[in-house]
Amino acid sequence: MALTSPRSVVVVGASSGIGLATAHLLSARGDRLVLVARDEARLRAVADELPGPAVVAAADVTDAEAVERAVAAGVAAYGQVDGAVTTAQAMAYGTVEQVPPEVLRRLVDVAVDGTAHLARAVLPRFREAGGGSLVVVSSLLAEIAVPSMGAYCSAKWGQLGLVRTLQTEVRHERGVDVSLVLPGAVDTPIYRQAATYAGRAGSAPPPVVSPERVAEAVVKRLDHPRRADHVGPVNLLAVAGFRGLPAVYDLLVGPMVDQAVLRGPRSADDEGNVFRARPGAERLRGGWTLAGRLRRGGRARWRG
Ligand SMILES: NC(=O)c1ccc[n+]([C@@H]2O[C@H](COP(=O)([O-])OP(=O)(O)OC[C@H]3O[C@@H](n4cnc5c(N)ncnc54)[C@H](OP(=O)(O)O)[C@@H]3O)[C@@H](O)[C@H]2O)c1
Repeated sequence: MALTSPRSVVVVGASSGIGLATAHLLSARGDRLVLVARDEARLRAVADELPGPAVVAAADVTDAEAVERAVAAGVAAYGQVDGAVTTAQAMAYGTVEQVPPEVLRRLVDVAVDGTAHLARAVLPRFREAGGGSLVVVSSLLAEIAVPSMGAYCSAKWGQLGLVRTLQTEVRHERGVDVSLVLPGAVDTPIYRQAATYAGRAGSAPPPVVSPERVAEAVVKRLDHPRRADHVGPVNLLAVAGFRGLPAVYDLLVGPMVDQAVLRGPRSADDEGNVFRARPGAERLRGGWTLAGRLRRGGRARWRG
């Protein structure tokens, strides 16, 4: 269903990257927002930057009651909630043997439990509002496997299974929709925020698209839902290679990860923002594009 603006949208992950870009885009066109992430002070700063109304509801998506309170805050402020977007996620580098079990479990919890908690909270509100649209920001890595990113792949494959199931469950309901947006590499802080147990910091592998470009796809899917929408110039090629030529894919993907992903400086084990927010590093972009690097005077991007 195409919703009519202004609408009331819960944006989970609104303090950084794609969620922040989405909040700006929605606010600029008159939508009323509920901003959700773990760090309340950072969300208040974002709310102050936005041109339109925004209430702040700090929540960790793995906490079902906190997610419910955040959605209820939207209903209390605006009378209804008829849109929701989630971008909440952290990453971790390291082989399945290197990444501690609690880190893998946490990444999966955020993606699978967190998305389920949000769906349970918003879908009844969509029905009360006469319709609504949920957009889940997934990843190319929900459809391919990448060495040293197994915890993130497990999280995103699990989230994909959950969301595809949800789509089959609501398909008969007029006006209640669930969409997936699957980006390739995006120029956001997530790479510097990631945990690492691989002995090195990670970085965004080229080609890298802007967070605004992904936000445009998210807003488009709020209006015009679609089962799955890839954003990234090499996504479909990567998925085709993974599925159609698995032996060739497996041969190439390891060296590609060494060259293009684990190319940061040596690093001791670091849990990144997996368990706690690191608001000081949260912003719109990560500086991973060529232009971003030039803006930083050519400095290595992972130095902050
Ligand atoms: N950047 C990429 O290259 C890329 C590529 C493909 C897919 N994606 C996906 O795009 C989405 C957004 O990523 P991004 O690059 O924009 O990352 P980001 O800049 O690091 O933003 C992540 C957001 O999620 C929030 N968050 C993290 N854990 C949370 C939790 N447990 N509960 C509530 N909020 C939480 C963070 O705020 P707090 O820390 O304050 O909670 C932050 O607002 C993610 O789902 C990611 O997997 C990104």
